[in-house]
Amino acid sequence: MTASGNTKLAVIGAGSVGTSLAYAALIRNSAREVVLYDVNAAKAEAEVLDLAHGTPFTGTSRISGGGDIDVVADADMIVITAGAKQNPGQTRLDLAATNAGILEQLMPQLLERAPHAVYLLVTNPCDVLTVVAQQIAQLPAGRVFSSGTLLDSARLRWLIAERACIAARSVHAHIVGEHGDTEFPLWSGARIGPTPIREWTDTDGELVFPPNVLDQIRHDVVHAADRVIAGKGATNYAIGLSGARIVEAVLRGERAVMQVSSVLEGYRGIDGVALSVPSIVGSGGVERVLDVPMDAVELGQLQASAEALRASAVSIGH
Ligand code: LAC
Repeated sequence: MTASGNTKLAVIGAGSVGTSLAYAALIRNSAREVVLYDVNAAKAEAEVLDLAHGTPFTGTSRISGGGDIDVVADADMIVITAGAKQNPGQTRLDLAATNAGILEQLMPQLLERAPHAVYLLVTNPCDVLTVVAQQIAQLPAGRVFSSGTLLDSARLRWLIAERACIAARSVHAHIVGEHGDTEFPLWSGARIGPTPIREWTDTDGELVFPPNVLDQIRHDVVHAADRVIAGKGATNYAIGLSGARIVEAVLRGERAVMQVSSVLEGYRGIDGVALSVPSIVGSGGVERVLDVPMDAVELGQLQASAEALRASAVSIGH
């Protein structure tokens, strides 16, 4: 598989998430050119070298970069991973003030060099930072968005697949809302193949996903990152793969349905808040936010998630 066209991806931040995303993009040929920028030039240059040494084993993507922000010039897509990361016991929303400050410095420099790029926020709290970035950028709404709950939905699909002994690709399930503690599954629409998850049985006809199991799965998704952070200090591989997948959908103009977060206006009474609902992702970024069927419980959870995010944005002056 060759990389998409003459596309250029710029990854901002050469920490574990940024380098994992760049690594995934090289292996998946997500873009023809991948550049990695970090304010720490030595780190960025070392990561670029280490990645470049592996490219004889990957596809046709090239990697370059360093500590000069001009490396992002004319990028088609910019993924922002720079910022403080969660420590054990911290919520993603706890990072809002610090990482909003970094973004307020960074965005004008990026926009000056890549005014036509699609911008993807990965840095947390990615929903709140999407609002901040869009207020700075004033771009068409879909061109500034975040990875949101795509990763959480992947975790949900994996957990369901493992319990049902089914390929994760055959599990159709969505986590929506905040990429954080108020996220929730759309159980009403969750399916394995054509079968609603609440009706899935084993070969003995026993329900595999009774209500208590669904509750446990939701808990395990919401706390998945906490478990990884407790053991290794950060998450990086799965978010890197999630980000590379989003990059492909944009740079290839796929119009793929993904659970990503963009600033909503007039969505089920939600305005000016970014949270994840299934959306069509293509060359324009988020091209359409889908009007997803939700039952009364799910609608209530969506409002609660929106309120938590609005409160966090207001607390940092946005
Ligand atoms: C996680 C980080 C990316 O959920 O928020 O792993």
